[in-house]
Amino acid sequence: MMKKSIINFREMVEKKEKIVYITGYDYLTAKYEERAGVDMILVGDSLGMVTLGHETTYPVTMEDMISHSSAVRRGAPNTFIIGDMPYMSYQISDEEAVFNAGRFTKESLVDAIKLEGGTDSVVARIKAIADIGILVMGHIGLTPQFAAQMGGYKAQGKSAGAAMELLRQALAIEAAGAAFILVEGVPAVVGKAITERLSIPVLGIGAGSFTDGQLLIYADMVGYYDDFTPKFVKKYANVGAELLKGFTGFCEEVRNGSFPDDAVHTYVIADKEAADLEKLLAEIK
Ligand code: KIV
Repeated sequence: MMKKSIINFREMVEKKEKIVYITGYDYLTAKYEERAGVDMILVGDSLGMVTLGHETTYPVTMEDMISHSSAVRRGAPNTFIIGDMPYMSYQISDEEAVFNAGRFTKESLVDAIKLEGGTDSVVARIKAIADIGILVMGHIGLTPQFAAQMGGYKAQGKSAGAAMELLRQALAIEAAGAAFILVEGVPAVVGKAITERLSIPVLGIGAGSFTDGQLLIYADMVGYYDDFTPKFVKKYANVGAELLKGFTGFCEEVRNGSFPDDAVHTYVIADKEAADLEKLLAEIK
């Protein structure tokens, strides 16, 4: 399988082929995602909640993101990977945003980076990063790094005025040089309005069926993360139940002595070596 490029994604949009996009945070999961043939993997800062056990994405650092993105790159060498810029890695200045986007690219070999928000300052950061040749994905709508201002993880663009503001932000992000945009947590009609008016690929998560591609957080869609499940998630597997089955089975068998079975799970020693060992042990008794 050949890694897709921005050209392939533009062609997919033209041919109306949907782009499949899933989050990933570690080597093993990325390996399975690549085997399944996903088009893009997002190493999201949802890492903080899904993998590191934080209550929000705010504590995630550049070091966390680089370490996990590098692992995902090793697991999925032939998949297009997008690294999410964590909170406070791009907010302060264009210079810091460019520095951190460059670090991400150099140290974990991601193919693109993603920034949350549609404010004027975020649009300026997108332009500064795109100007040095890094592919940028914008992200608007329900943006977790703005959760405090939104009053929580709430759907956005639910009035005509709010929807028009999202469209204005999307157009500004495209004009700033973003290669893609992700729209999260908006009514389907808003996802459609944005997709129809932009020429860059528009990915959606909880933005209806019209967008050029669909993203889900892998731990939600395989039934692994169960702290809460957003309305837009569909479960395709029940990994949590399978893990529980494996762990409880192991607990039971270790405690009742049926694991390990020495006839199956143990290394063998030649009869002569076993006899010699017995003699040597007898001498030191
Ligand atoms: O961090 C992430 O996984 C994201 C998605 C929620 C879109 O940004």
